[in-house]
Amino acid sequence: MSERIALFPGSFDPITLGHEDVARRALAFADRVIVAVAHSPQAAKKGMFGVEERVETIREAFGGEPRIEARAFEGLLVDFARSVGARIVVRGVRTVADFEYEMQMAIMNRRLSPELETVFLAPEPEQSFVSSTLVRQIATLGGDPSPFVSPSVMRRVREKTAAR
Ligand code: PNS
Repeated sequence: MSERIALFPGSFDPITLGHEDVARRALAFADRVIVAVAHSPQAAKKGMFGVEERVETIREAFGGEPRIEARAFEGLLVDFARSVGARIVVRGVRTVADFEYEMQMAIMNRRLSPELETVFLAPEPEQSFVSSTLVRQIATLGGDPSPFVSPSVMRRVREKTAAR
């Protein structure tokens, strides 16, 4: 039987415990999960980490998990999915506010690539309020976002905020 590959795309600036939870949950139905960091010129300008740093951060966070890998991609998600043989897209849905945007993307991706199915996963309730945006904001304003990211991610966040 062919390998089931799930893509978990996003900005991951940086990856949070909520994201990690979603990627690990996807291993219940996928043989491998590719955490795919989207290149976006606008996001890169106002982000905390460059795309390659985000990929490195994800690799460190999943160090002991051989079935989860991290890659960067440019262009359309559907094209990247095709190039790596993935037919499942995984996204975490935290709130009703997430839902509209997520449905729009899922349906659009299916129009662009009918063989691609999007699966929505609910994160642990204690992660449901966590977002990369809030982690960046707390860190840059001198707060402590360590409860919301892995220790290896926190080290990188500290390096970034200390360098500012
Ligand atoms: O974590 P984010 O920022 O909500 O992730 C959004 C992401 C990266 C999944 C989305 O913007 C995306 O898929 N970008 C790649 C370009 C693309 O395929 N756009 C059309 C989506 S319907």
